[in-house]
Amino acid sequence: MDPITAATHPDPYPYYASLRAQGGLTFDPHLKLWIASSAEAVCAVLRHADCHVRPAHEPVPKAIADGPAGRVFGRLMRMNEGERQRCPRAAIAPGLQDIDPQQVEALVRARFITEDDVDLHPRQFIGPASVVATLLGFSPTQSHLVSELTGDFVACLSPLSQTTQLDAAHRATEQLEMLFRERIDTPDSPLLKRICQDLATDPDSLVPNLIGLLSQTYEATAGLIGNAVLALIRDPALRRTVIAAPKQISPLLAEVQRFDPGVQNTRRFVAAPSEILGATLNSGDVILVLLASANRDPRLNPQPDDFLLDRSNRRSVSFGTGRHECPGQTLALSIAHATLEAMLEREPRWDRLTWSYRPSINGRIPMFSDQSGTQAP
Ligand code: HEM
Repeated sequence: MDPITAATHPDPYPYYASLRAQGGLTFDPHLKLWIASSAEAVCAVLRHADCHVRPAHEPVPKAIADGPAGRVFGRLMRMNEGERQRCPRAAIAPGLQDIDPQQVEALVRARFITEDDVDLHPRQFIGPASVVATLLGFSPTQSHLVSELTGDFVACLSPLSQTTQLDAAHRATEQLEMLFRERIDTPDSPLLKRICQDLATDPDSLVPNLIGLLSQTYEATAGLIGNAVLALIRDPALRRTVIAAPKQISPLLAEVQRFDPGVQNTRRFVAAPSEILGATLNSGDVILVLLASANRDPRLNPQPDDFLLDRSNRRSVSFGTGRHECPGQTLALSIAHATLEAMLEREPRWDRLTWSYRPSINGRIPMFSDQSGTQAP
């Protein structure tokens, strides 16, 4: 195992503990990466002004730079520093934080009623981004399409992507851009109206960052829902507890996102010579930031390797920290809560499921199938 393959290893947590024991911020000569594994190092890196989200020499990955997906990528707040991050973030984050969880629940439940498929895969992947699309004013049918296109777009963000996926991502981006331009012409959702007004000074970043909301939702929320399902499959007593008392779904999700996060790591690129916790880093150095390891640091959470529903003062960096901290955290938890609740009410037969992690260098996203190998209920 290494710090990258750890993301999809069956149990990377003892390995993360061994990395922390070597020091919170160490250099891996084989991977040629700095590894931040302790909570202190992870927070120091994510809050450091000179630790940037993209390398200065390659603001957009070469593989997509010349196409529509690259054009969008280059404008995402997630992939920028300075005004290109601050301006869209200031316009978008407040609206996300004000979304009513009851509205989210109603949207998730409406999807369960109107869409008769019972597979876990669409609940986990298509559902969350569809909800965000509906909040941005798309009709239920369009939202489904928008979510599928988002799946094609996010496939280009991984270095593991194949040429056919890159081509599909460019085509999907063009369609998403067109659909959003139509929506913006007659914005009838309060969230979209608010974002359009607040981002009027920076119109070029509007459509890319609306697509960004969908792409940030797609895999990360699938990871949270999937890892919660996995926790319930592994522990039948926990499952019985949660089915008997659905109010336990909130603490369940809070602990799952800490204990076994869907986003295991992120990266930073050093923009100027920096001293971090006694280590000297040079411009161009790359840091692998192990969010999942920080959550298990005993200095962040006592008894970090115990799964405790009633954990007091739970602390987690699964949604990042510092200037790029996730603005969609509350929304993600609301979507996952409503999805899990609706699934559990249908008495799922999850014991028949097999699963494997989706190939990824940073996501820990279980994909389920039933024992015959088909998508699972
Ligand atoms: C369980 C689901 C989610 C997880 C675990 C998650 C996690 C994260 C993390 C770790 C970051 C920071 C990355 C970094 O600093 O390198 C981030 C950023 C971001 N997330 Fe989320 N996220 C989730 C869902 C969402 C949702 C539902 C939305 C919006 C609808 C969203 C929107 C964003 C945006 C726009 C950023 C970039 C913020 C910036 O760069 O200023 N996320 N997310």
